[in-house]
Amino acid sequence: MNFKSSFLLLPLALIALKNNAQAQVISIETANNALVLQADDKHDVNTIYFGPKLADSKEYSHLAAAYGKDNDYTGQMASVYTPAGSRNLLEPAIAVSHADGNQSLDLKYVSHKIDKVSDDISLLTIILKDQVYNTEVTLYYKSYYKDDVIEQWSTIKNGEKGTIVLNKFASADLYLKAGSFYLTQYHGDWAKEMRPETSQITHGIKTLDSKLGTRADLFQPPVFMVSMDKPATEDEGTVLYGSIEWSGNYRTDLELDPENNLRIISGINNYASAYQLKAGESFTTPPFLSVLSRNGKGDASRKLQHWARNYKLLDGNGTRLTLLNNWESTYFDFDETKLAALLKDTKKLGVDMFLLDDGWFGNKYPRNGDHSGLGDWQETKTKLPNGISSLVKGAGDNGVKFGIWVEPEMVNPKSELYEKHPDWVIKQPKRDEYYFRNQLVLDLSNPAVQDFVFGIVDNLFTHNPALAYIKWDCNAVIYNAYSAYLKKDQSQFYVDYMHGLYNVLSRIRAKYPKVPMMLCSGGGGRVDYNALQYFTEFWPSDNTDPLERVFIQWEYSYFYPAIASSNHVTDWSKLPIKYRVDVASMGKLGFDIVISKLAQNDLQFVQDAVKNFNGFKSVVWQGDQYRLLDPRENAVASIAYVNEAKTTAIMFNYLVNYRYDEGSKEPIRLKGLDPAKQYKLKEINLYPGTNSGVDENQPYSGDFLMKIGINPHVNSGRSSVVLQVQAQ
Ligand code: GLA
Repeated sequence: MNFKSSFLLLPLALIALKNNAQAQVISIETANNALVLQADDKHDVNTIYFGPKLADSKEYSHLAAAYGKDNDYTGQMASVYTPAGSRNLLEPAIAVSHADGNQSLDLKYVSHKIDKVSDDISLLTIILKDQVYNTEVTLYYKSYYKDDVIEQWSTIKNGEKGTIVLNKFASADLYLKAGSFYLTQYHGDWAKEMRPETSQITHGIKTLDSKLGTRADLFQPPVFMVSMDKPATEDEGTVLYGSIEWSGNYRTDLELDPENNLRIISGINNYASAYQLKAGESFTTPPFLSVLSRNGKGDASRKLQHWARNYKLLDGNGTRLTLLNNWESTYFDFDETKLAALLKDTKKLGVDMFLLDDGWFGNKYPRNGDHSGLGDWQETKTKLPNGISSLVKGAGDNGVKFGIWVEPEMVNPKSELYEKHPDWVIKQPKRDEYYFRNQLVLDLSNPAVQDFVFGIVDNLFTHNPALAYIKWDCNAVIYNAYSAYLKKDQSQFYVDYMHGLYNVLSRIRAKYPKVPMMLCSGGGGRVDYNALQYFTEFWPSDNTDPLERVFIQWEYSYFYPAIASSNHVTDWSKLPIKYRVDVASMGKLGFDIVISKLAQNDLQFVQDAVKNFNGFKSVVWQGDQYRLLDPRENAVASIAYVNEAKTTAIMFNYLVNYRYDEGSKEPIRLKGLDPAKQYKLKEINLYPGTNSGVDENQPYSGDFLMKIGINPHVNSGRSSVVLQVQAQ
């Protein structure tokens, strides 16, 4: 239905409702849950229930009576999309200045429909409309039955004759009932990503947000958990995971209202972003994602990971390339001779691909450090006289693939790009420039800049059709926010930047649908489910110390599947190579070490470990993940992946407390096995010359392994142990 005709039909729909002014129940059911909405006799649409689904869906019509209505304002607190400027006095989901300057909005039910998208997916659409101003809001609820996941977003249409301003434009407005609520949120910084904090939510508003422009995840990742009645544990408790699918500034408000219910309003951050909508235009907000489980954090994360692999992450059910990266082994200091040796090392190591990192471009200002050259995407002639194409060919000659690093959204002030196109750079015209890692961000709200950024990647593929992989970096936040292109419309900037970025990524994916791309951002500064539609994997942190990575990867795993986690073995830490490889194996394995300097036993170990990884990677990438021992509570972290048929599991065990006599003292109980099956255990990734204490010939039932468990005997002499659990 086009915009005009939907408005013509409105009066009819409203009349229909007036004639039949009784409450209408709208329910969204997934495998275990129901989200129940109600258009009441005043045509307000409220959330009346979000919890375990009832056996008989007809009984949802008794909910309003069961909960009762305490007073006149109850309904406004539970609004499915709380408008500002009418009766609502709590945090709004939407606030509008109309063309005449009036700031009131009152959204009334017009119609709804439910479309079956597939066996698993349904889409509920609800149309709401202001009765004085021609402002229409469509709410979308896309539900994924098997995974108990709901994505919700809105489209706001300006049917007025003049421009309106969206002062707030959230994607979701949730309403939860429970005795108490506990928020698990994350904070971080470079090399310190994903540090969790849990606290009881008190009255008032708790805001999680980002104003960094390009990379929300750096300080305050958009993912969070809300436990109800008590903090959920791995296997118990009711917990909702939520996240806005947006890579830029976001804002999530968690408001415990005067009646002790929790309102969660999440969307693009309205900070400095009052968004103008011209007559006839509409604005669609990004999806807000949630999954609700009554069986603890583990169950919620398995559902989310399963959903991500099947519906969101690019090529989530596909495969990934193991690789050797040169960043930490050479930094900017390389030439063709060094790279030729690294290509040979890639083959020797047994991984699929060599990844050339930063430092290959720039001629007037060669990229020999991070102060110059960014933006000048031509090979540095002094370093690479024969260009990237000869390296791609060299990789092929060695039987490995070739991937390359780019940071296409950025520019160093010391670059030809900055000299030629100062108007493409985000900077204040009359103020000093402030730099983040000596660089500035390009203005992706400008279509000419979008073309330029698309062209960087397109040129690489056009000239090198065999190029197999892109590492897309983003090492700066947006300082000096000002777009020369947007002129007086600066408050559109943060939103238009992201739309520009997504436009470029869509164009890349239209032309190169499946080439694997890693989303990197000076560490884990940028990962969310909008970006992961275009990327096959992300870089959790520049901190590759494996002890730190146990904790970082553990926390990311609540929200993102292992197949998306790029884990590289580096020389950042002095911990044994086996520990480093074992930790990196719980995801997408890569290396950033100097192969030629490895001792013979270390080399033998990594070569064997790569072969082992190829044997079990499908279990880690496509299996269900079970957290067995939490590193924050135990001396040992233990985590297992079980394939769908429950015939194979891989159990990783890591020492995380290096004090005297720490280790695994008791058996560790497995999860997710078939109790009736018999399994044998085998220790893999053994360091050359060492033996396992695990008896490979003893079969155990799944029942035994899940009720009693198995002690992997982790201690300071065996600081990491990988067990393969195989059904007989
Ligand atoms: C960022 C990345 C690193 C590396 C450098 C290159 O810091 O996280 O892995 O690519 O940029 O400059």
